[in-house]
Amino acid sequence: MDKTKIRVAKKAPTSPPAKPAQASRQAAVQNKPRFSNLKNDSLAFALLGAGQAVAMVRDGASLPQALAQVFAQAGAPAPTRGAIQDIAYRTMRGAGLAETLLTTLASKAPEPPLLHGLLCCALCLLAEVDDPAYDSFTVVDQAVTAAASDLNIAHAKGMVNAVLRRFLREREALVADAIKQPLALWNYPVWWIDDMRAAYPEHWQTILTIGNQPPPLTLRVNQRKTSVEQYLRLLSENGIAAQQIGTVAVRLDKPLPVNQIPGFEDGLASVQDAAAQLAAPLLDAQDGMRVLDACAAPGGKTCHILEIADVALTALDHDPKRLQRITQNLQRLQLQANLQVGDARIGVGAGSESWWGGKQFDRILADVPCTASGIVRRHPDIRWLRRKTDTDQLATLSATILDNLWQMLVPGGKLLLVTCSLWPQESEAQAAAFAERHQAIRLAAPGQLLPASGAEDDNKNDNKNDNDALFYALFEKPAAG
Ligand SMILES: C[S@@+](CC[C@H](N)C(=O)[O-])C[C@H]1O[C@@H](n2cnc3c(N)ncnc32)[C@H](O)[C@@H]1O
Repeated sequence: MDKTKIRVAKKAPTSPPAKPAQASRQAAVQNKPRFSNLKNDSLAFALLGAGQAVAMVRDGASLPQALAQVFAQAGAPAPTRGAIQDIAYRTMRGAGLAETLLTTLASKAPEPPLLHGLLCCALCLLAEVDDPAYDSFTVVDQAVTAAASDLNIAHAKGMVNAVLRRFLREREALVADAIKQPLALWNYPVWWIDDMRAAYPEHWQTILTIGNQPPPLTLRVNQRKTSVEQYLRLLSENGIAAQQIGTVAVRLDKPLPVNQIPGFEDGLASVQDAAAQLAAPLLDAQDGMRVLDACAAPGGKTCHILEIADVALTALDHDPKRLQRITQNLQRLQLQANLQVGDARIGVGAGSESWWGGKQFDRILADVPCTASGIVRRHPDIRWLRRKTDTDQLATLSATILDNLWQMLVPGGKLLLVTCSLWPQESEAQAAAFAERHQAIRLAAPGQLLPASGAEDDNKNDNKNDNDALFYALFEKPAAG
């Protein structure tokens, strides 16, 4: 077997410390690699593609955006795209270590950005000692081939070889030294680690650890079409091991592409984390009610509400492209909603009647925009892209949205605030301040969910907890007095 060919990755996919600057992002793009010198099914090709994606994230692009650009440019077959994605995600989860190692292994910061990205990817693969995805010497050989193939970085192929070989020779000592630094030990920006420790003095280490693990694939079983029992049987008949971890939540033992999930196209199940599946039941929408899902795209919670109750639902999002994804989900599940492009901040009486019709809602779901700090295991690039100041800015935006939505709720109606953040400014502090501003009645809700991982218990089937870190607060509007 040709050892330089890509092997199917064993682990599900995973960013480097970002220093966004428009000028350097342009530099990363201008230094785009010339894939044409490499076989498109080689590990060298995948390393070059992943290195380019990592360079783009380091300069401020989200990983999905960066990968889309690399795929468009590289024209690689599906298995190679899979390998590029896998290596880039792994590198996001190990970038703190790779960056720290590079300060020891390279005499100066590797330039251009593509070279830096390539080295980070190779170091992350080489640092995996338990169940590594690729043979170490193949990684070194293919990283050197990747460097040699591209005019922008060919000058550094000797350096790539020397850095990676030294890492292999001295791996244990180099890693032991690097992880004395929090950035390398935890693989998060230092401000993130400090803030998490301050907010969760007892749980911060678990929270950070779970955020570095590959996420599970959890499904929501559509109770309009089947039952959990029937669906588990269908999975089992297809040789797919899974377990129930919530009322209609089923976690697959091994993640699968959606096109391999039985009944997915027929709407029997949808992909949704167990924590996100708590929203629709909490909203307590009853048949015949008018419901607003105010930040709705891509529609995971919209569809769940409609699977539970026969309601007149308005799904609002300010992003028309993301709204299209709601349309796709509604079609697949054969559900109906009134879709509106609009801004949830715009006040009653300021033109917003165009999308809400001027008639108050019985239930409002406010799944407000946030830092997404509670779902970093699914989006490992987020930690490198966020700035500490983002939290307060997003909390201010969400407060404006909440204040506006409150006016659209009938007296006696309920508003459910959801965030996928662990930062208190966006979650509990936001909820408390909101309740005080409006004399809203606070009803029972889970509050801040901490991330939980049931992965280690897959064989025992006794740990049902496996969820992202969402925040829930439920409010009732006092009846008009
Ligand atoms: C956390 S996501 C919602 C996820 C969705 N509820 C689900 O379960 O699939 C937040 C959404 O809010 C939208 N958004 C952000 N600011 C908005 C605004 N001012 N008005 C309306 N939608 C907004 C974003 O486009 C994004 O789709």
